[in-house]
Amino acid sequence: MADRIAEEKINQIRQAVDIVEIISEHVQLRKQGRNYFGLCPFHGENTPSFSVSPDKQIFHCFGCGAGGNVFSFLMELEGISFQEAVIKLASRVNIDLEINLQNAQTEKKVPKELQAMKDAHELLRKFYHHLLVNTKEGQHALEYLYERGFSQESIDKFQIGYSLNSWDFVVKFLSKRNFSLEWMEKAGLIIKRERDGTYFDRFRDRIMFPIFDRNGNTIAFSGRALGGDDPKYLNSPETAIFNKRKILYNFHQAKASIKKLQHAVLLEGFADVIAAERAGIENGIATMGTSLTDEHIALLRQSVQSILICYDSDNAGIEAAFRAGKLLDEAGFEIKVAMMPDGLDPDEYIKKNGPEKFRHEVIDASLTWMGFKFLYFRRGKNLQNEGDRLDYIEEIIKEISKLKMAVERDHYMRQLAAEFSLSLDALKQQQKQYYFAEKRKSRGTSEHNVKPAIIRKQADELKPAYYTAERLLIAHMLKSRELAYKVQDLLAGNMFNVDEHQAIITYLIEFYEDHLEPDSAVFLTYIQDENLRRMVATIEMQPISDELNDQELSDCINQVLKYKKLLKIKEKEKEQKEAERHKDFLTAAVIGKEIIQLRKSL
Ligand code: UTP
Ligand code: MN
Repeated sequence: MADRIAEEKINQIRQAVDIVEIISEHVQLRKQGRNYFGLCPFHGENTPSFSVSPDKQIFHCFGCGAGGNVFSFLMELEGISFQEAVIKLASRVNIDLEINLQNAQTEKKVPKELQAMKDAHELLRKFYHHLLVNTKEGQHALEYLYERGFSQESIDKFQIGYSLNSWDFVVKFLSKRNFSLEWMEKAGLIIKRERDGTYFDRFRDRIMFPIFDRNGNTIAFSGRALGGDDPKYLNSPETAIFNKRKILYNFHQAKASIKKLQHAVLLEGFADVIAAERAGIENGIATMGTSLTDEHIALLRQSVQSILICYDSDNAGIEAAFRAGKLLDEAGFEIKVAMMPDGLDPDEYIKKNGPEKFRHEVIDASLTWMGFKFLYFRRGKNLQNEGDRLDYIEEIIKEISKLKMAVERDHYMRQLAAEFSLSLDALKQQQKQYYFAEKRKSRGTSEHNVKPAIIRKQADELKPAYYTAERLLIAHMLKSRELAYKVQDLLAGNMFNVDEHQAIITYLIEFYEDHLEPDSAVFLTYIQDENLRRMVATIEMQPISDELNDQELSDCINQVLKYKKLLKIKEKEKEQKEAERHKDFLTAAVIGKEIIQLRKSL
C-alpha cells in the first residue's frame, strides 16, 4: 500500500498531524496520566475504555479491540481506504501529494472505470428524481407515492425518482454523454441483447430508489413496479461498485444519528425505512431484500452496539427477525424486537395508525431479545396440550441458560414459573444443568469473536504461560530494535507458538531492516491485516517495565520453547502408545527414552 504514496510523504503527514487533535474531533477525551481516555466510537459503552497515546501516536480500545494509528482511525471511522485517509490528512496539513498520485499509473485504470460507473449513477439519480418531481411523464408515479403516504420531503431526502417507460432512454442518455456502453452494462444500468449486441434500459416505468454507499455515492438502484409487475422490486445486479452483502439501505444518512444515539433500527424494506423516518426515526436502515450477512454485522459493529429489529409482523417477518436476532446476539449486540399487530409492516402500520402510535406502541414497547423468544417459541404450539407445553418450557429454559447475567436468568425463570404455576426451585435445578452445558460449549469458541470486555478480560487471565511470555517479548521488541534482534537470535529458528504473534514479529524484523529506531505509529502503517494491527495496538498499550533484564528475557524464551517441547512430548507419547498397541516394544522403548530426554531438557 505504501508504494502508491511515497513512505516519506506518509511519515511527513503523520508527523504534521497530532492523533489527539484528530480523535478529539470525534471523541471527547480526558487526560489521565500520559494518555487520554474517552468513550469508544467503534462500539457502544458507558465507561471509557478507549485510550490514545500522544507519545506513541496510536489509539486502542480495551473493550472492542479496535486500535491503530491516525490513518487507521479515520479508515475505521469513515469507512475509507488507507489512501483516502492519507489524502484527507495531507490536505489538512497542506502537504502536496500530487506528484506521487500521478505516478500511481498502474492503479489508475481500474478506478477510471469505477469512476465512470459512479458518475453515471449520480447523473441518473438526479435525472430520475427530476422526472418524478417535475415532469408530466412522472406524474402518475408521484401520485402513486403520495397515495401511499410518502411526503415531498422524504421524496427529496431519499432522492426517489422515476424511470421512463422507454426501451432506450438511458442508453441514449448515457451514450450522448460519452459513457462507454460496455461499462454501463457492467454497471447494471443497461442490458445487452444477445441477438444483435444492441442495448436496452434495465429500469422502465418504475419508481427508482437510489442505493448509496456509506459515503453517499450512488452505486445502484432498486426500481419498484407501479402496478403488479413482477418482480415488485427490480434491483441492480452485483457490480464492481455494488455488493448487496455489504450495503445497508440508508446507512449513509442514518450513521450520524446511529452514532449519536448509540442505537440503530433495522427494518426489512425501503418503504419501511422511509415511513419510519417520517415518524421521526432517523436511525433506520434495511438490508437489500437479503438476510443479514457477516459483512453487515461487521459494518454495524463499528458504530453501534444496540439494535432494534422492526420487521414485518407476518410469519416470514417473524422468522427473519429470529434469524437476524440470533446472528446479532452471537455477535454481542444488545437486541430488542418490535412487534406490530395483524401481520402489518411498519409502513402499513404508520399509514394506518400514525407516527405517534408507531413510536409509542411499537418502538417504545419493543421486547427484549429473551422476551421475543418467549413469544417466538410459542408459535405453532398449543400450550393447553401437555406435550407442547413441556417442549415449550424446555426450549425456554435452554434459552435462559444462554443469558450471561445471573439477574437476567433469575428474572426470566420467575416469569416462566409464574406463567405455568411451576415450582421455581425445580425449574432452577433443571436450568443449572443447561447452564453448565452451555458454559462448556462456549469455552470452545474462537478468540476472534468480539465478546463483552469482561469476558475477554477473564479469558486473558486464563491464557497459558507461553502466550503471556510471547506478548511480553513482543511488547519489548516493539520498544527496542536491539532486543528484537536478540530475541530472534535466542529463538534460534524457532517460531512463536501463536501464529499471530509470529506474524507480528516477522513484520517487525522486516520493519527494523530499514528503520533504525522503533516507531509505533509508522510500524502500524506496515501491517495491512486489521486483526494484527489491533493486536499490536493492544500490546503497545499494555503497561510494561522499561527494560527486560537478562533473567526475565531468558525466562520468556524458555516459556516459548518449553511449550514446543511439551507438544513434542505429547506427540511422542502418542507414537509410543501406538507402538505398544502394535506390540512393537522395541520402538516403544526407544521413544520412551526420547521422552525422558525431552522431559529432562524442560
Ligand atoms: P416486501 O415485499 O416486504 O416489500 O419486501 P415492502 O418493503 O413492504 O414494499 P412495498 O411496501 O410493497 O413497496 C421487503 C424488501 O425486500 C426487497 C426490497 O428490498 C424490499 O424493500 N425485495 C422485495 C426485493 O428486492 N425484490 C422484490 O421483488 C421484493
Ligand atoms: Mn410495505
